[in-house]
Amino acid sequence: MDKETIIERIQELKKSKNAVILAHLYQNDEIQELADFTGDSLELSRKAAATDADVIVFCGVRFMAETAKILSPNKKVLLVAMNAGCPLADMITPKDVLEMKNKYPQAAVVTYVNSSAEVKAISDYCCTSSNAIGLVRNIPEKEVIFIPDMNLGSYVKKNVPEKTIHLNEGYCPIHHQINEQDVLEIRGKHPNAPVYVHPECKPEVSAQADFVGSTAAILKKVLQSVAKEVIIGTDKGIFYRLKKENPDKNFILLSPGLYCNDMKMTRLEDVHEVLKSMKNEINLNANIIKSAGMALNRMLKYS
Ligand code: 13P
Repeated sequence: MDKETIIERIQELKKSKNAVILAHLYQNDEIQELADFTGDSLELSRKAAATDADVIVFCGVRFMAETAKILSPNKKVLLVAMNAGCPLADMITPKDVLEMKNKYPQAAVVTYVNSSAEVKAISDYCCTSSNAIGLVRNIPEKEVIFIPDMNLGSYVKKNVPEKTIHLNEGYCPIHHQINEQDVLEIRGKHPNAPVYVHPECKPEVSAQADFVGSTAAILKKVLQSVAKEVIIGTDKGIFYRLKKENPDKNFILLSPGLYCNDMKMTRLEDVHEVLKSMKNEINLNANIIKSAGMALNRMLKYS
C-alpha cells in the first residue's frame, strides 16, 4: 500500500471505531502530521482525560499510553509501538521508592510522568516538565522526594528553594549527554541565536541556556521570539512543529545525539495495523489504576 492509501484507511478506521490519535512532539514527522492532536506530556494527559472517543491510539512511549489508560480507564488505549519504552522511567522501581519513603517519612513523593504505573501508584503526586515547579511550589508539604529525574529535580530545587527536596539518580540518556562545553561551542558558531533547552538537561547546561522549558513551552517561546535562528536542546522530533509554525526561522540542534529512538519507533503502517486489529491494548491492574489515578488527577488539579 502506498502512503496515501494507508492514511485514507487510517481515517476510515478512525471514524468507524470512534478513535482519536494522540502523538507526542518527539514523534516522526508523518505521525505528527497524521495525529488528531500533538502535544507535550501534560497536554496529552489532559487530552486523554477529556476525550469522548472510545479508542485512544497512542503514538509515543509506554508510560504515556499507560498515563492515558489511567486517566481514561473505560477507554481502549492502544500503543502503536509496543516496545517503545523510556530508559529514564526504568531507572526507578517501586522498591527504590519505598526505600526513599522509609528514609524521609515526612516527605511527599512527587513523581515525574516518565515512570511506570506501579511507581505512580505509590506516589502522592505526578508532574510533567511543564508543571513540576508550580506543583512542588504549591502543594502543602514542605519536604518532597522528587523522582526519577535528577536533572529536572535539580531545576525544581533551584526554583523552589523554600522546600527541602530529595533526589534520586535517574536521568534521560538523550538530554543528559549534553555538556556545558557543547553549549559554549555552538554559541561560538551562532552568537546571535538564543539557546532553549529541556529541563531534563544537566544543571550546568540549563544554567547556560536562555530558556528552559518543556517541549510545549519551547514551542511557545520560539513563537514569541524575534530571533531568526534558535538553538534547540531537546529531541529533534520537535523540529516538525517548530518549522511548521515558524517557516521564517532557522533551527539548530544543540547536539546530534538529541534523537530518541524509542520515540521514533512508531510507523504509519503500524498505526493502520493497530487500528485494524485493535491489538496492543494497554491493560493495567485495577488497583494500580486507582492509586496512580489519584496521583495523576492531583497533578491535573495543580496545573
Ligand atoms: P515533555 O513534558 O516536554 O513532553 O517531555 C517529555 C519527555 O519525555 C522528555 O524527554
